[in-house]
Amino acid sequence: MNNSKHPKGLYLIFATSTAERFGYYGMRAIFILFLTQALMFDTEKAASIYGSYTGLVYLTPLIGGYIADRYWGARTSVIRGALMMAVGQFLMFFSASTLGNVQLSQGLMFGGLTFLIMGNGCFKPTVASLVGQLYEPGDKRLDAAYTIYYMGVNVGAFLAPLVCGYFGETGNPQDFKWGFLVAALVTVAIVILFQTQKNKYLIAPNGEQLGIIPDAKRDKMNKEANISEGIKNYQEGINIQQDTQTAKRKEKRKYYLLALLTIALGSFFYYCFGDEWISIGIFTACIIFPISILMDSSLTKIERSRIYVIYIIAFFVIFFWAAYEQAGASLTLFASQQTDRVIFGWEMPASWIQSFNPFFLVILASIMPGVWSFLNKHHMEPASPTKQAIGLLLLSLGYLLICFGVKDMQPGVKVSLIWLTGLYFIHTLGELALSPIGLSMVNKLTPVRFASLMMGVWFLSTATANKFAGILGGLYPEAGKAKIFLGYRIETMYDFFMIFVIMSAVASLILFLLTKKLQKMMHGVE
Ligand code: PHE
Repeated sequence: MNNSKHPKGLYLIFATSTAERFGYYGMRAIFILFLTQALMFDTEKAASIYGSYTGLVYLTPLIGGYIADRYWGARTSVIRGALMMAVGQFLMFFSASTLGNVQLSQGLMFGGLTFLIMGNGCFKPTVASLVGQLYEPGDKRLDAAYTIYYMGVNVGAFLAPLVCGYFGETGNPQDFKWGFLVAALVTVAIVILFQTQKNKYLIAPNGEQLGIIPDAKRDKMNKEANISEGIKNYQEGINIQQDTQTAKRKEKRKYYLLALLTIALGSFFYYCFGDEWISIGIFTACIIFPISILMDSSLTKIERSRIYVIYIIAFFVIFFWAAYEQAGASLTLFASQQTDRVIFGWEMPASWIQSFNPFFLVILASIMPGVWSFLNKHHMEPASPTKQAIGLLLLSLGYLLICFGVKDMQPGVKVSLIWLTGLYFIHTLGELALSPIGLSMVNKLTPVRFASLMMGVWFLSTATANKFAGILGGLYPEAGKAKIFLGYRIETMYDFFMIFVIMSAVASLILFLLTKKLQKMMHGVE
């Protein structure tokens, strides 16, 4: 990895993502409070709306990624995505402004969520794949580039709850609208920023404008041009025509097969989960989309083998996010009920602890590229799959640390804030080893015509993990109620945290054992 300067486009993407994540996390910070305190949903219903929203937000990147690669091209997808999100945020503002009319206000809220979900689907995978396209394939700066991008994401994630919380969460339900309005205005800023700056900064390494023509279309055009150039005689022309017909027939067969498989899987998951349509959608998509990409006849053997690597690692990454995402639910409960948050006589609100992670992340992200670069100079930089395994290991260590904190906990006595602070610090280190490096790896391993779609597949593991996190979070110990999970008895906080120590350690170990094989399957990509 060399330290030479990054293309200016990276900083445009940095700023755009900071603003977008500000809108996302700002709205999210006050959303559950808005549902329960202003729209008067009970906790269970509110949690279910919240869960569906955060699940769908990471499911739609699949569709958004597909549209970007095939039809719109990256720039249009980013702009349209941002516009849809802005509409969504304004609908949230209007919803919070019409609290007197419950039906109208709830309708506006659901409309707002729909726009936010669609907008995010178009925006997130496309921006993530654009980062990589600013560099030549094989450029050693790519991991650093994704780490810088990830830092931008977290600047937004850090500031948003503080600002939107300040304006929106005043104790008066009439004020939620101001929080949503701030999020909406910042989202509009993305559109203006991106629209005015894109031509200047979104330039490919060869000097061409980036993201105008969809990559799949460009690839196809190149191929067709090569074919017509290569047709030298009549017979060759006929052969090619026949080939095209066979390919079309194969394509049709593929769609029938996929449709059948979707119905079969959908029914199976319906049988498992009942009418939990979002879980059914996520789990079905999780299988169908990856298979459909593998069935694409244009893939070469090497491309296919690289895509397998992404799938295998995405599977392990599910365990990372399922443990990590306890932050939003069970760890916040732990912070509020069982952690002593008094500092010099002042009690820190439990929700503030959620900004520890983005805070550490922004600081550590400025050091990490240096660390990788140092290791690289000494020929010790681990390959991408190893970095993912290290991320999982760090997650396990974070939970191990807190296990020490709660081991001899007496009922009714709160533990020191040091334990949660330590856990978040170690988790953030793990996140930096795993998440930006994962995005970078997906970019390196994917043929450019699938760039955004594969990012969508990668985000799908986050969607699945969030669902799984919810199930695991339900094992949070409650007084007088022993819970059993796969034969393991959970009565204390120690038992609960141990689940995550073991789960992440086992996933990490298996991934470590697989790294050599995975590296071979990557065919020369680091
Ligand atoms: N903080 C990250 C983000 O908002 C969390 C995340 C990681 C989300 C990976 C999706 C996938 O981008």
